[in-house]
Amino acid sequence: MTQQILGLDIGSYSFKVVEILHPREGKPELVAFGSVDTPLNVLQSEAEDDQEKVAKIIKMLLKEAKVRSRKVVTAFPEAKIFTRVIEFPPLKGQDLHNALEWEVERFIPLPKDEVKTSWMVLEDGTVPGTQDGGKGKRMKILLVAAPLTLVDRYITILGMAGLEPLAFESEIIGMARSLSPQGSDCPVTLIISLGASATDLCIVDQGIIQFTRSIGTSGSDLAKVISRELGFEQDQAEEYKRAYGLLEDKLGGKVVSVIKPVFDIIVNEIEKAILSYQAQKPMHPVKRVVLTGGTARLPGVVVYLAESLGVEVQIADPWIDVKVPPQFEEDVHRLENQTHFAVAVGLGLKRI
Ligand SMILES: Nc1ncnc2c1ncn2[C@@H]1O[C@H](COP(=O)(O)OP(=O)(O)OP(=O)(O)O)[C@@H](O)[C@H]1O
Ligand SMILES: [Mg+2]
Repeated sequence: MTQQILGLDIGSYSFKVVEILHPREGKPELVAFGSVDTPLNVLQSEAEDDQEKVAKIIKMLLKEAKVRSRKVVTAFPEAKIFTRVIEFPPLKGQDLHNALEWEVERFIPLPKDEVKTSWMVLEDGTVPGTQDGGKGKRMKILLVAAPLTLVDRYITILGMAGLEPLAFESEIIGMARSLSPQGSDCPVTLIISLGASATDLCIVDQGIIQFTRSIGTSGSDLAKVISRELGFEQDQAEEYKRAYGLLEDKLGGKVVSVIKPVFDIIVNEIEKAILSYQAQKPMHPVKRVVLTGGTARLPGVVVYLAESLGVEVQIADPWIDVKVPPQFEEDVHRLENQTHFAVAVGLGLKRI
């Protein structure tokens, strides 16, 4: 059966929606897409009025983007949930269940009855074609836990917007689905999403997530520091950030001199993440970095990251696994649509 699914990315700066048609055979196809600014100061609110405001903006987005389906896959913000790749010897059934329960208690700093947990087997630890099933191999599981209050709030908002949630994921799972290079000859890739309020990253080896991390410093902090240090209004600071970014030779180097120390906090955290992964997997070094998120458009960011991390860096293409009809071809490949839609496309690509 063909199915049309909305991938909805509820970001702190903008909401993005992508409608994907899943045909019985062949590539998933883009049907519609669009984005709208996030309403101020309401996204995290528990008040019903504020939730109505969020729902109203989502409805407006659906109308403007001319989407037809009401079945939606959305993601919780990485910073509000707990995501972790865990490993143990291959287990099944009740044994696996018990091991996971134990991991939840160990890693999740909330009482068990206040979170909703789910997991995804990344690698089952067996090697096809070997008699002993690949002795010594470990199984790898992606464990995600979301506070129930958050789950309930999202269900309420989506209901108010007239949507039927099919699944909730994390932003990292979404972006990894649209951006992971597939195939055994693909180099180990670090995917970095530079958003407005968070920098999310994951390391992918042969299409499988190996490591995830969320950093609380991102694009909005860069505008804030320009405003604070150089005395500009927020709007003006945002414009300077977008115009000059990390470029040394612009405006006498004023903008870069104030945002560099903040951007270096992000770079430092990325380096720590790479080292932490590398300690587990010394034989699989990160060979490539792909960038996504609105702040991936910051002038000079690709070169700056490549020089700081010492690896090849490029802007990611989230539309690569999607059939794009001719009327959208030019539009989707504009830089802002390349960088903004990775999470939404990945959510829309989920097979239900
Ligand atoms: N041309 C540009 N140069 C630099 N930064 C930009 C540019 N365009 C947008 N941004 C920044 O990108 C960010 C918005 O990106 P994005 O839409 O990915 O965020 P979001 O998904 O809503 O946020 P989050 O995922 O952190 O909740 C903002 O901080 C904005 O200032
Ligand atoms: Mg985002």
